[in-house]
Amino acid sequence: MHYLGFSLRNNLFVAPMAGVTDRPFRQLCKKMGAGLAVSEMVTSNSLLYGSAKTRRRADHDGEVAPIAVQIAGSVPEMMAEAARYNVDRGAQIIDINMGCPAKKVCNTMAGSALLKDEALVGRILEAVVRVVPGTPVTLKIRTGWDKANRNAPSILKIAEQSGIQALTVHGRTRACGYTGHAEYETIAAIKAEARIPIVANGDIVSPEKAKFVLDATGADALMIGRAAQGRPWLFREIEYYLATGERLPPPRVGEIHNILLAHLEDLYDFYGVDTGVRVARKHISWYTKGLAGSASFRHRMNQLPDVVEQRNAVDEFFLSLAEQNEHLYYDPTDDNNIEGHAAWKSPTIFPPASGARLKPISVISMEKCQAISTTWC
Ligand SMILES: Cc1cc2nc3c(=O)[nH]c(=O)nc-3n(C[C@H](O)[C@H](O)[C@H](O)COP(=O)(O)O)c2cc1C
Repeated sequence: MHYLGFSLRNNLFVAPMAGVTDRPFRQLCKKMGAGLAVSEMVTSNSLLYGSAKTRRRADHDGEVAPIAVQIAGSVPEMMAEAARYNVDRGAQIIDINMGCPAKKVCNTMAGSALLKDEALVGRILEAVVRVVPGTPVTLKIRTGWDKANRNAPSILKIAEQSGIQALTVHGRTRACGYTGHAEYETIAAIKAEARIPIVANGDIVSPEKAKFVLDATGADALMIGRAAQGRPWLFREIEYYLATGERLPPPRVGEIHNILLAHLEDLYDFYGVDTGVRVARKHISWYTKGLAGSASFRHRMNQLPDVVEQRNAVDEFFLSLAEQNEHLYYDPTDDNNIEGHAAWKSPTIFPPASGARLKPISVISMEKCQAISTTWC
């Protein structure tokens, strides 16, 4: 795909996810088939530039181009400064976050809270575009503030007038958090009006769903977040399905074992061993959710304090898995089986592709769904 002057492998993008899409994960997703990966958001508060977290987020050493960095904030001058700072450190695309409903962001009037103030949106976009003239600037939004105020079409116009070169839309309002289903019809309406590329985002969890969203919205690209956690190979599965109409067989246990071990090494290198072990726990949990015997494994693994024990536990789990199955097999009755996740899949809008082998849908309670949702950005 040609995108903002870059030649990408495909139109499948990794969503920015704070605490998830660090450099090791972005690199891995690109290796496993993603065309582009956007960094976790970087604050526009220059007081924090010296913090270890912000410095790590601006570290792109060895990352495959193009390097896309997301910035968040609400003061035009500070956002411009943040854009400049990140371009000076290797960013080749600047993405502006107006899509995140997290309290930490919204209370300071940033993220999706900005959608309420269209004049301010315009000032921020213009300030950022002006300060990095040679660098494409993109914008990520939700469909609006709430269901009564779906002003994404109006934000699109402001974005185009300000020189924004692509728009990602997460098909929910800010008020919706992560509840309900992504509104692909709203994204389709935005795409119909747009003169810039539109990236569709929300609830894309499988190759069939990816095809459905592309067809339903007419979007130029897809952005995938939660479903890629612990499943970076989802990108190559979608890429293959879009090209052939067929599903790849599930990956071999041995392959994923090796991918996870390499991922762990990258995390230990990137964060140092102490933080690395802690960060690795959540990735190991995502990789293993829905696999046979994984609940007790995760419980034990989360107590392990050091690299050697963590690595050994992963080895032991995957070796025992390999004795049971050659390929990864997700328990269809497990709540954590993402393709069966009730909140992400509407049977009415997701017809099985002919010949596709679908697993039964497992239903999770609304309480559990909301508990999960409130912890997400
Ligand atoms: C843990 C987590 C962190 C996130 N952090 C960000 C962020 O930093 N910037 C942003 O624009 N969106 C953020 N998001 C939202 C995602 O980019 C994406 O829009 C959302 O998860 C919907 O896509 P999905 O259904 O494929 O997950 C985050 C989501 C999650 C789950």
